[in-house]
Amino acid sequence: MHPDLQEILFSSESIQQRVTEMAQQIKVDYEGKNPIVVCVLKGAFIFMSDLVKQMDLPIEVDFMSISSYGTSTKSSGVVRILKDLDLPVEGRNVIIVEDIIDTGLTLSYLIDVLERRNALSIKVCALIDKKSRRAMGFEADYIGFSIPDAFIVGYGLDYAEKHRNLPYIGILKPQVYTK
Ligand code: IMP
Ligand code: MG
Repeated sequence: MHPDLQEILFSSESIQQRVTEMAQQIKVDYEGKNPIVVCVLKGAFIFMSDLVKQMDLPIEVDFMSISSYGTSTKSSGVVRILKDLDLPVEGRNVIIVEDIIDTGLTLSYLIDVLERRNALSIKVCALIDKKSRRAMGFEADYIGFSIPDAFIVGYGLDYAEKHRNLPYIGILKPQVYTK
């Protein structure tokens, strides 16, 4: 285990197993459709690539980068589009792939943007849900794991851009971000 972590929450194997189940559920729900799968950068990049490899559907992928965080561990509440989609979403079924839902501010904003572009449907697929932290009534359609309030890293998730490449997900030691 990396020395900045206090505990491993989800091993690489348990993540892979859950991602496979999620991809199978999405395949059933979108049979006969060709959705656009939107990766919310940067945190969702590993989850997205594992997920779409197992999604046996004629999908298109696109990427968007939104920031609500800066480099701290607290949400700023300010959402900015850093990189927009390349594909038009009008009349399309959109699946947003996100690493983690915390306050829900980022996704509420993103859904609002895509609704105004007249997407046909919008669903959210998030690997991790921190439900106790929700600032507004927001529910994702597909959730990998629910966790209590803790700051986690790995499998795409970072602290100040570090630890995204860990193959597992773990809880960061509080002394790492309070020092
Ligand atoms: P929200 O807008 O508060 O829901 O924030 C969601 C974003 O905050 C996620 O896409 C992550 O980038 C980041 N985030 C929230 N919690 C964590 C965490 O525990 N570890 C790493 N990033 C997090
Ligand atoms: Mg993110």
